[in-house]
Amino acid sequence: MEAVLSTQFTNPHLSLSSSSSSSLKPTLVSFTTRFPETSCRRTGGWRRKTQPRFPLPFLRISANSQSAPSSAATAISSSIPSAMKGWVYGDYGSVEVLKLEENVSVPEVKEDQVLVKVAAAALNPVDFKRRQGKFKATDSPLPTVPGYDVAGVVVKVGSQVKSLKEGDEVYGDINEKALEGPKQYGSLAEYTAVEEKLLALKPKNLDFIQAAGLPLAIETAYEGLERAGLSPGKSVLVLGGAGGVGSLVVQLAKQVFGASRVAATASTGKLELLKSLGVDLAIDYTKENFEELAEKFDVVYDAVGQCDKAVKAVKEGGSVVVLTGAVTPPGFRFVVTSNGAVLEKLNTYLESGKVKPVVDPKGPFPFSQLVQAFSYLEAGHATGKVVIHPIP
Ligand SMILES: NC(=O)c1ccc[n+]([C@@H]2O[C@H](COP(=O)([O-])OP(=O)(O)OC[C@H]3O[C@@H](n4cnc5c(N)ncnc54)[C@H](OP(=O)(O)O)[C@@H]3O)[C@@H](O)[C@H]2O)c1
Repeated sequence: MEAVLSTQFTNPHLSLSSSSSSSLKPTLVSFTTRFPETSCRRTGGWRRKTQPRFPLPFLRISANSQSAPSSAATAISSSIPSAMKGWVYGDYGSVEVLKLEENVSVPEVKEDQVLVKVAAAALNPVDFKRRQGKFKATDSPLPTVPGYDVAGVVVKVGSQVKSLKEGDEVYGDINEKALEGPKQYGSLAEYTAVEEKLLALKPKNLDFIQAAGLPLAIETAYEGLERAGLSPGKSVLVLGGAGGVGSLVVQLAKQVFGASRVAATASTGKLELLKSLGVDLAIDYTKENFEELAEKFDVVYDAVGQCDKAVKAVKEGGSVVVLTGAVTPPGFRFVVTSNGAVLEKLNTYLESGKVKPVVDPKGPFPFSQLVQAFSYLEAGHATGKVVIHPIP
């Protein structure tokens, strides 16, 4: 991580003037010292003590088949409360619908699930697209505790859980199918219940902040490159190489799939970051049109939504992976599947330092500043991952 973020890149979006300036150093420090709980509480994010908008019983009755008899859990820590602090929205809409509540019921674990005490969570564009109601037809019922990505500690295990145990430090994307019935109780709360198969042990060399930013993005990067058939010796162009997904695609392409040449697009201030991640050709999209380059690529990975241009940059017979927006042949779109086994496989590369997490230096945002964190992500210029820590 230090190697990545010590690079002097001059992006205007990374002006280090946020109120959480202590967290804006270009290297990460221990999460335990960064945002003391007292400073978090002062922000007043959970002053709703007397008027909880979604009191505990409300969330309990509408839990999207997550409730289970407590007998499903075989090991229960006596310190687990029945209610917790969590961010909740009861209507679809802009960031204004997000409310910090302190009487959200702690989800019960099903047989194949563990309860995770959340240490850090990360935001993904799917979180705000879901909140905006863009896939309400397949969403779980409102109200919703948002959040897909989590890193934390297992505090309770279901009766059919095979490998994980209390005290394990884990990370993962809690929703197997991103758009199909994502959990009503997400990771932006003190506790979240997750199927064991969606989690992996946290890489030993990473802290919770770094780990929380990885799951959905790195699984998307991996699955896209695998579906594209990227193999050793091939070339790849990544559109949006400095974003949450793109910053991992460029690294996995080289380190895991053996690409011989990696090109990527970003704005001027992020080109040095791209090079520090191993990119051979960093293209400034504010000055150059990648689709007009003479060089063509075996794989184009579009994390921006430019498929119409992406297909002009691929070699004949090559693959164009599309994450968002309209699809032009031969481009293909897929939706990521969360899979703890993929994280386990990638742990080798993370623990060796070959693949590095990129945490946006504007954060991590304390739990009470979730609205600011979402606003920042939604502006579309994050560098790597927007992480929320500590919780709470
Ligand atoms: N289908 C799936 O399963 C799946 C999974 C994950 C994500 N997605 C989607 O994929 C997209 C990317 O996700 P993400 O998490 O990587 O988002 P993100 O982190 O918010 O991406 C932000 C990055 O995009 C870059 N960017 C914006 N416009 C660009 C352009 N014209 N050319 C090059 N880079 C540009 C920004 O760089 P600058 O500041 O330099 O502009 C910034 O670094 C989102 O739409 C998301 O919903 C889909």
